[in-house]
Amino acid sequence: MSSTVTITRQDGIAVVTIDNPPVNAVGQAVRQGLWDAVPVLEEDASVQAVVLACAGRTFIAGADIREFDGGSMQPWLPDLVERIHASSKPWIAALHGTVLGGGLETALGCHCRIADSRTKVGLPEVALGILPGAGGTQRAPRLTGAAAAVQLVTTGAPISAAQAMEVGLVDRLSDDLTADAMTFARDVAGKPVPRLDPAPAQTDLTADDWDKLRAEVAKKARGQISPVRAFDSVRNAFTMDLADGMKAEREIFLELKETDQSKALRHAFFAERAVGKPAALKSGTPRDIAQLAVIGGGLMGSGIATAAISAGYPTTIVEQSAEAAQAAQDRVAGNLASAVKRGKITEATRDATLALLTTTDDFNAVATADLIIEAVFEETDVKRAVFDKLAATARPDAILATNTSYIDPTSFTAQVPNPERIMGLHFFSPAHIMRLVEVVKTPDTHPDVLATGFVMAKKMRKVAVLSGICDGFIGNRILGAYGRMAGYLLEDGASAAQIDGAMKAFGMPMGPFEMFDMAGLQIGYANRKREAATRDPNRRYSRIPDLIVEDGATGQKTGRGFYRYEAGNRAALPSPETDALIAAERAAQGITPRDFTDAQIVAMLHAVQVNEAAMILAEGVAERPLDIDVVKMMGYGYPRWRGGPMQQADAYGTAQVLATMQAIADADPASWQVAPLLREVGVQNSPFAARNK
Ligand code: 3HC
Repeated sequence: MSSTVTITRQDGIAVVTIDNPPVNAVGQAVRQGLWDAVPVLEEDASVQAVVLACAGRTFIAGADIREFDGGSMQPWLPDLVERIHASSKPWIAALHGTVLGGGLETALGCHCRIADSRTKVGLPEVALGILPGAGGTQRAPRLTGAAAAVQLVTTGAPISAAQAMEVGLVDRLSDDLTADAMTFARDVAGKPVPRLDPAPAQTDLTADDWDKLRAEVAKKARGQISPVRAFDSVRNAFTMDLADGMKAEREIFLELKETDQSKALRHAFFAERAVGKPAALKSGTPRDIAQLAVIGGGLMGSGIATAAISAGYPTTIVEQSAEAAQAAQDRVAGNLASAVKRGKITEATRDATLALLTTTDDFNAVATADLIIEAVFEETDVKRAVFDKLAATARPDAILATNTSYIDPTSFTAQVPNPERIMGLHFFSPAHIMRLVEVVKTPDTHPDVLATGFVMAKKMRKVAVLSGICDGFIGNRILGAYGRMAGYLLEDGASAAQIDGAMKAFGMPMGPFEMFDMAGLQIGYANRKREAATRDPNRRYSRIPDLIVEDGATGQKTGRGFYRYEAGNRAALPSPETDALIAAERAAQGITPRDFTDAQIVAMLHAVQVNEAAMILAEGVAERPLDIDVVKMMGYGYPRWRGGPMQQADAYGTAQVLATMQAIADADPASWQVAPLLREVGVQNSPFAARNK
């Protein structure tokens, strides 16, 4: 017997316990241990029933995802599940924690299931670009019927133990799992073993209904294939017997596992966990934060405060006047009210959370805070004035963070004593909803301070990524290159609608011009005016966005930008005025509009992002390619199933990305240079992933 699977016996009941921390993934050793346990228990005449349980924080949370890239190692999970199901003695799965994927499938192979009432169960495989490959798409529908099975398998969202009981996945709920599982075993011992009917499952759905459902799943999946293929497999459960359905499921599983989408989604899974462990954090010990203060209660500050109090931090918002403090209070209350409305929190939780907030116009309130987040207007002088006051008022050991999205924190904090306590925390708007935070390290920031930022972000259920200092940090700097290329493509002849359409077909939730219009064109306009004096005069400058603003159009809010908008409607419609303005500017610049294919647009917009990212890596602003991927996926809507721009570069082949970038730079060497690191990897066509160590 393997050390991860042990058997104990008590009064005719055998308890098989899996102990494979941290989440009891059913890797090869566990599979082998269970495989060997089945005949031992079959042959043991003293055993009348078997309880399958797990030590630690959860029942099996799935197959071991780390094994997916190696060759498959026997025994295979579907065979193991079948072996358990074929046992002549009843097996009772005792469920707790997060019973996911192969974990739920193993439980479905058992004959009975009892769950601790706090358990969550689910089939999240689609989020890894695969489908439940150990009978989940065949056994679940036979227990739950079509609607619940389609929901479980195609969304991957887990359900509560009570819901699992309601749909028939679980037989009993318990608040004392160990004892109740033994009782369940005694109740069924010696009785005929309950087994699933292998005949096709029954449904009222017509072929037409199934087709409509499939179209709905495909629409929601927006280019991701696994939910659609998982749906197909569930449908098989209603036309095929169990053995044929399992065979078909296995074929789809093996097909999906090899796709770029699944590789990208697995990369996303591990990258989202690895970003929390950058090398720069290794020597850091997080400090305790008992009291937080946020300077500025505008949209950003109140969003940050909402996230802070929701994570349990007592928080004070400091504003400039009593009215502004009240407005901040109202904003936070509004954020929580909408969470109640969306069913995210209860009214009682809202009240308890709001009780953690104070708002004031007295700056001295920061004196007791352990961590202070400045979230005032993105203007160097405004921020410097706040840090002048913090230097005088905050505790000398209090951690000081600035929520800046572009500006170098050291440019306005030089006067502050103890610079090792200063860091940037770049939240994304709306800050109580968006999960990304860039934690910005200055040359002085102490590792303990960074570690505190990471712990706080995690408590806020956010994903923190470490960034060094540069204009725009990781995310906005890459966005800058993307926006610049999009602007050149527009001036050269592609329409905003074509560019946006191509990027949406690629999987982005919106294209660059829809995004600019939504954000409002005036901020970029003001930035460009400010930077005019320092801009490289040789670099190509497209005046189109400036001309649109000077024509009185600043985006969605004013009803016109790159597109036209009807009142109260966000749909982007063609704007004849803007189109005329673009045509006139092309003529003024002597540009004869060219045709671009959608594939060219996607390749060029991808290449310039990877090129900028390669510079960011070489400068040490980002530690690893995976940090860049997570920033783009969590903060900018980059499709998870593409795994971020660096993973996508590996999927295309870095040689191809280099060739695209080289052509861009050759055509306009004043505006674009190939990043040396992209050249280095591209020449060898080696993957960026090799640098994720
Ligand atoms: N395989 C391998 N490692 C896993 C794993 C898995 N299925 N699930 C979690 N881990 C690892 C994580 O990578 C992490 O490792 P690290 O400490 O080295 O970074 C560690 O376990 C702890 O994970 P989390 O940090 O995510 O811990 P949480 O407590 O926040 O969450 C969880 C626990 C809800 C179980 C979450 O980890 C999760 O969702 N895991 C994935 C579950 C899943 O997708 N299961 C299906 C797998 S595919 C499958 O079963 C195929 C089958 O149909 C054939």
